[in-house]
Amino acid sequence: MGQGLFVTGAGTEIGKTLIAAALVHQLVSRGQAVRVLKPVISGFDPTQPEMSDTGRLLTAAGIEVTDQAIARASPWRFAEPIAPNMAANRAGAPIDLDKVVAHCRAGLSGDGVLVIEGVGGVMAPITDQATVLDWMAALGLPTVLVGGSYLGAISHTLSAAAVLVDRAIPLCGVVVSESADQPVPLAETSAAVVGFLPHIPVIGVPRIPLRPRPWEAVPDLTALVDLPETL
Ligand SMILES: Nc1ncnc2c1ncn2[C@@H]1O[C@H](COP(=O)(O)OP(=O)(O)OP(=O)(O)O)[C@@H](O)[C@H]1O
Ligand SMILES: [Mg+2]
Repeated sequence: MGQGLFVTGAGTEIGKTLIAAALVHQLVSRGQAVRVLKPVISGFDPTQPEMSDTGRLLTAAGIEVTDQAIARASPWRFAEPIAPNMAANRAGAPIDLDKVVAHCRAGLSGDGVLVIEGVGGVMAPITDQATVLDWMAALGLPTVLVGGSYLGAISHTLSAAAVLVDRAIPLCGVVVSESADQPVPLAETSAAVVGFLPHIPVIGVPRIPLRPRPWEAVPDLTALVDLPETL
């Protein structure tokens, strides 16, 4: 089975795609073969696939954003920008978590590293009964948790980390992705997270100025992923 990495978040719109794309870009730059999955995506606009999470991840991996590549990376695409179970139910196509897990496992049988972006926060519902946490637990992949630095972010990040640990999901690192508004400098929030998670690598990522391919400007995160340098 190939190597896999799951990128989850303390919440939605927190920086998962930016950080996952940065990791993908950095691994590709080191000569690693990288594939990407964003199996479940809501708020997907088929007229602008390159702007979607899937499109960004594919671009970061150096894979052309074709309809076929999008369909393979994101089989469960929904237009409404709402919780995945609600988007799926409204589209008349409830998600079967077993099928999502099976799709990820099939991806893991390929060569190189498979980077999977979750959806929403750690406990965003995928079905009416199952959350992203159940999906991650079924896969058991090394997981990077992305949090922010907004007021309240420390509690959200630590709560997310606690449920991951509780379900024995290997937490290989936490990224504090600087929020647009923050009450204290990024380093203080990162230090607070380190204080409560002393055995887990924590990296603060500063605000990346608006630019094309912002993931290329993210500082090196590869220390978080314990991948052999098969380069
Ligand atoms: N450190 C940062 N610097 C600049 N912008 C950031 C940073 N972190 C997050 N953002 C911005 O915040 C927005 C949300 O980030 P992103 O799309 O990566 O979040 P997400 O967690 O993947 O969201 P979703 O739940 O929709 O998948 C994007 O516009 C992104 O560029
Ligand atoms: Mg995203």
